[in-house]
Amino acid sequence: MSPHQSVFKDEAKLDINYIPQTLPHREREQRLLMEFFSYIIRCPERMAQRVIITGDVGTGKTVLAQHFGENLTSEANKRGIKFRYAHVNCREFRGSLLPIIHHAITVFRPQFPARGYSAENILTNLMQVLDEENAFLVLALDEFDTLVENEGSDAIYKLTRLQEMRQGKPQRLSFIFIMRGLKSLELLDESAKSTLQRSLISLERYNKAQLVDILADRVGLAFELGAVEEDVVDLVAELAFSETGNARFGIELLWRAGKYADAQDADRVEPECVRMAVSNIIPGTKRSDLTGLGIHEKMFLLGIARFFKENEQAYASLSDVEKSYQIVCEEFNLKPNGHTQLWNYAQFLSSLGILKTEVSMAKGRSTHVSLLSIPAVKLEKELSFSLQEEKRNM
Ligand SMILES: Nc1ncnc2c1ncn2[C@@H]1O[C@H](COP(=O)(O)OP(=O)(O)OP(=O)(O)O)[C@@H](O)[C@H]1O
Ligand SMILES: [Mg+2]
Repeated sequence: MSPHQSVFKDEAKLDINYIPQTLPHREREQRLLMEFFSYIIRCPERMAQRVIITGDVGTGKTVLAQHFGENLTSEANKRGIKFRYAHVNCREFRGSLLPIIHHAITVFRPQFPARGYSAENILTNLMQVLDEENAFLVLALDEFDTLVENEGSDAIYKLTRLQEMRQGKPQRLSFIFIMRGLKSLELLDESAKSTLQRSLISLERYNKAQLVDILADRVGLAFELGAVEEDVVDLVAELAFSETGNARFGIELLWRAGKYADAQDADRVEPECVRMAVSNIIPGTKRSDLTGLGIHEKMFLLGIARFFKENEQAYASLSDVEKSYQIVCEEFNLKPNGHTQLWNYAQFLSSLGILKTEVSMAKGRSTHVSLLSIPAVKLEKELSFSLQEEKRNM
């Protein structure tokens, strides 16, 4: 049998963590961002910068900041300045200031102990490390709203005033705050808000023609020559455009359509592969949310999806879904985790907005879970798909 040919040349180019060398239709914003920071590169000790980037889902906020981070660091290196860019997704740290700042410190001190600090003294530590290293940091706080919602005004105020509190010392810490909209800032009191209000870059949704360019670029990097024809790119762009101009949706769709083509041993991605792929994407949820989960979290969620698929009820007790989870573990030949761990998973999945958890007072305290906007059938398909992939790579 001849080895299976894939339509992909380099699948990794469709990965959500991949940062492309060029960002079509974000040239203006890239220049603007560089402009905001150009003074700092020239006279690093004199000034710090704060920029807010906003835009809808999949409009390129994260990739714009990361791309800029790479440019900035190399530009500064050329000038012999120790500039670092740290990109932290606040949601991954559940919006908690301490681990976020700890993460920033580890950019310079990988072994820096994680425990034993108050929020205040970890901030002092960060500045101390920067002084000792004679370094400058641009801290990009992605999904910043989770930090605002979780920590509130005090923490934001402390964080953003850090620099001003160091009268007479070099300015070392700049920020890029990334969020979908400015609404969450309304939660803050006036003084905290005023420390944030600086330069704003707001990203418009992509139109269809722009999505075609972005996707065509990615096709060239990720697929074999001729594997994805123009009309297919057009179809994917159309679908991504109707999903609020979301480039991520388009890229995921390309990847998935390619998977369908490979599964059929086809040497081209036909429009039908795209249609199959789109019918199995969960609207409103990022694949990255699901792929970012640990294997037990996925198996737990799969257990939940199956439970709700088989039972016509809106809520399930934790012990009900625990049983389905144990069956999933058997299938994958893994030892199930205990009740407390599952409770933690449920809390985490609920912080991601996938589940809702509630404590019921009837018949003693017990935790109940329900699925929010994702149909159980789709979630099941999605997770089985992802777990099979994972198993294959194990
Ligand atoms: N102009 C562009 N050129 C090339 N790729 C792009 C462009 N804009 C977005 N992308 C790609 O689209 C995907 C989504 O972009 P990104 O993750 O930056 O969106 P986002 O605005 O941060 O979305 P969210 O609000 O959901 O976090 C990524 O894979 C990114 O590489
Ligand atoms: Mg993002």
